Amino acid sequence: MTDKSTAGPQAKSSGLNSLTRLLPYAKPFWPSFLGVLLLVLVFNATTVLQPYLVKVAIDSDIAARHPNLHGLFQIALIYVGVVVASVVANYLQLILLQYTGQSIIRKIRLDLFTHIERQSMAFFDTNAIGRLVTNVSNDTETVNQFFTGFFLSLIRDGLSVVMIVIAMFELNGRIAAYAMVLLPVISLISLLFRKRLRQAYQTTRTRLSNIVAFLAENLAGMRITQIFRQERSQMGRFQALNEAHRQGNVREYGISVLFNRVLELLGNVAVAAIVWIGGGAVLHGTILFGTLYAFISYIQRFFQPINSITQQWNTLQSAMVAAERMGGILSVEPAIADPDVPDTRLTEHKDEVAGQIHFEGVSFAYKPDQPILHNLTFSVQPGEFIGFVGATGAGKSSIMSLLTRFYEPNEGRITLDGVDIRSLRQADLHSLVGLVQQEVYLFTGTVADNIRLFRQEVKDEEVVAAAKTVGAHDVILRLPDGYQTKLFAKGANLSMGERQLISFARIVALNPRVLILDEATANLDSQTEELVQAGLQAVATDRTTLVIAHRLSTIRQANRIFVLDKGRIVEEGTHEQLLEHKGLYADLHAKSGIAYERSEVGTT
Ligand SMILES: Nc1ncnc2c1ncn2[C@@H]1O[C@H](COP(=O)(O)OP(=O)(O)O)[C@@H](O)[C@H]1O
Ligand SMILES: [Mg+2]
Repeated sequence: MTDKSTAGPQAKSSGLNSLTRLLPYAKPFWPSFLGVLLLVLVFNATTVLQPYLVKVAIDSDIAARHPNLHGLFQIALIYVGVVVASVVANYLQLILLQYTGQSIIRKIRLDLFTHIERQSMAFFDTNAIGRLVTNVSNDTETVNQFFTGFFLSLIRDGLSVVMIVIAMFELNGRIAAYAMVLLPVISLISLLFRKRLRQAYQTTRTRLSNIVAFLAENLAGMRITQIFRQERSQMGRFQALNEAHRQGNVREYGISVLFNRVLELLGNVAVAAIVWIGGGAVLHGTILFGTLYAFISYIQRFFQPINSITQQWNTLQSAMVAAERMGGILSVEPAIADPDVPDTRLTEHKDEVAGQIHFEGVSFAYKPDQPILHNLTFSVQPGEFIGFVGATGAGKSSIMSLLTRFYEPNEGRITLDGVDIRSLRQADLHSLVGLVQQEVYLFTGTVADNIRLFRQEVKDEEVVAAAKTVGAHDVILRLPDGYQTKLFAKGANLSMGERQLISFARIVALNPRVLILDEATANLDSQTEELVQAGLQAVATDRTTLVIAHRLSTIRQANRIFVLDKGRIVEEGTHEQLLEHKGLYADLHAKSGIAYERSEVGTT
């Protein structure tokens, strides 16, 4: 296994840059941060005050020549008050900071998601979904820890150290000066450990994300794993990944614990030194006993914030890595953007859109050196029913991806009712041009939710009407809860055909002016297909319909059929004309006819 180290000097500085670029998200919350700061001040002041109060009790009330019981009681009362104030301040500060951090993260997460949603399909060709999920869920949470944990520690613990140092110098400058010898020693130890800690930390993170990636991939492909009986070998790989993670984690923990124990040891040695030096001073009468007590108390408290700050290094490290990953996504401008001044002529009167389509000299390639469509020119008249046929990989789906503007042509232009689709808002284009694909995507929710696709303005009657049009109504009523049947995991509780019918109803409910079906009936059994065919006729009557069909019978009735070969339209005409032409279509028809009859024989 390879542990990619992201800890190069370049990665570090760009990580820091990415983190600072996220700071504007915190800006609107400055009053909250100010509140936290005030609460931290109260908390720190009350904490530093505690040993001092005990010192006063010892020196002026207990060890004084005239012990003062009344004064002692007063101090005890004040002490309780201070402790209560400290607890309350600490509580409020933690809650406020968490609230603020989560508010910031909510905004970042929302922006990240919106940004990803705006990307063109080319973006999703190169960014694995699993990674994007991690970005939106985990990375944002890690950055939250930066805004809460790191920020808090820096202020609270930094302030603690400063206040304790001041308190010590107030008590006795000479002993305080001795105590300052600790600072360089602590720095040295921290330096020695820091690099190791960082490396160990990053190793563990990488190994953990390996586990997550493995899990995501395997759970999604569980069917294949079981069919090929790869459970055991996958188990072995998973075990290896887990073992690597365990070792990394234990090592990281070990280094971190050792570091803390070394600091603890140093702290206790320091206490011993203070007992020795301060104790001598007490015996010589240069300081009071209570002062010695306070010193010991402060030295002990001195190490706690330092410990806590060093632990925040990890948070900073991971926050930088996370911020960099998010920055990487946020900096990708969508390849396909809406025009600054969109053309709204078509959407203003959606019902009047005729659905005339022109492809004018359109060429297209997914990758620069692999052209897919070559100088394509064709027109579709309003209300026409057009079939597209051609071998797998001929470029049929790619044409539709251009028409829906998931991708942009490299050359030429596409117009809808004479308007270049690039001058439309993408949302508007998609309300005019609807697409059903072979691969159906259903969301978690009810059948009705999936037909209206969560658009509340689509009424129940419209949902039912849409389902009736495509012949899905009876099928849906047969489901356990009819339209209210809950769908899970992309509709795994439905058959392929049922899913496809719901997707048809969904597009009919959208009521687009141009309807594209991309091998949408391939999943249906012949009986259901007949049902859908009838529905299709109804749907197709008052709109332009483009149908890519696997079974040629689906498009027999088409006004015209385009035959595609290697990104070019090589034949065009009605079913009869093309058969007479005895070209590619006639060939395809001859083959599919045989295949069709065979499958008919096979299934009945
Ligand atoms: N997202 C993509 N990235 C790169 N190449 C692609 C992508 N989608 C399709 N292709 C390629 O483009 C060609 C045409 O594909 P497509 O339009 O889906 O064909 P059809 O729908 O006619 O079967 C194929 O060679 C295919 O490998
Ligand atoms: Mg296709």
